[in-house]
Amino acid sequence: MRSLTLIVNMRKLWLSLASIAISVSAPNLFGQTAGQRSPVAPTHEQVQTVVTQAYNEFKNDNEGKNADYIPALAQVDPKLYGIVAVSTDGQTVSDGDVNHSFSIQSISKVFTLALAMNELGPDKVFAKIGSEPTGRAFNPVTAVAEMPSHTGNPFVNAGAIATVSLIQAPNADAKWQKILDFYSKAEGEKLSLLEDVYKSEAATNTGNKALAALLLKYERIYADPLESVDVYTKQCSVGVTAKQLAIMGATLANGGVNSITHEQVIKKENVPEILATMTMAGLYDGSGGWAWHVGLPAKSGVGGGIVAVVPGKGAIAVFAPPLDEAGNSVKAQKAIAYVADQLGINLFSPRSVGLK
Ligand code: DON
Repeated sequence: MRSLTLIVNMRKLWLSLASIAISVSAPNLFGQTAGQRSPVAPTHEQVQTVVTQAYNEFKNDNEGKNADYIPALAQVDPKLYGIVAVSTDGQTVSDGDVNHSFSIQSISKVFTLALAMNELGPDKVFAKIGSEPTGRAFNPVTAVAEMPSHTGNPFVNAGAIATVSLIQAPNADAKWQKILDFYSKAEGEKLSLLEDVYKSEAATNTGNKALAALLLKYERIYADPLESVDVYTKQCSVGVTAKQLAIMGATLANGGVNSITHEQVIKKENVPEILATMTMAGLYDGSGGWAWHVGLPAKSGVGGGIVAVVPGKGAIAVFAPPLDEAGNSVKAQKAIAYVADQLGINLFSPRSVGLK
């Protein structure tokens, strides 16, 4: 997070960009509020410049290491790196490897949560799963054993497996198809499974099976435990590109409406709780530092993706496989921090709260 702090010093550059933006009338990004564009919103070209700067700034950063507890993830080229920003009116800017398909991994948990909330309503999901930071890794047994009533939150593995178990379907295959269709609608085109990742994870997911057994012991799983783990493993193995991930994030930024297809995918009234959960637990043990320095609801996956949501404005997705100790992509964190700072979109920044 030290480098994130350094990035904050680059705020001055954005402030001068913002003042230029006042005087231009070109189409702009990240500026709409309630259907109206802010006169100080950065233009498409300015956002492109910032995204390209972020790409260049970190492309030679060698910090972190690919996840290897899922063997297929260790094989992914660690140099792959792409950044995309998509606005709620469907504009896109990007740089780098933004068309490479990688496994969505834990970012899937956001969309299964959204589906469960669509089906059951927020109160039932909150009562059964919860939304408490665990202060622990993404896959701890303690998130089941030590939480007094529910699983902690829908983003630790135990909570995510329990969330899968809540989805209504006649059998595991139908549940998987329902989840995949929902992700596809959030993205706007048909997504599919990365078979090699699924096979690799299914062969090595003893820990997740143990979590499901523990959930059963504590009566916190609502369908067959092993079937729930299998559907969960499939959802984590869905392939997305950084471009597709940014569109999925923009759906959350846009009140649940896909910016490209204009379909209402996620119920609008559930978006605030989803974003709150992302803020509290989206980067696991890194969530506090992330909120402090970057100030955007976000979700990471061990495949190397992170998507950050700018409510009402758009989303930024970055793909870069090497991870930090908490399982969050190092370059993705740095690149999103850079873009957020340059564009002044940190929700908790001094400027956002009226101090500057
Ligand atoms: O269950 C697992 O371990 C993976 N399928 C997902 C973990 C993950 O992405 C954690 N996020 N950073």
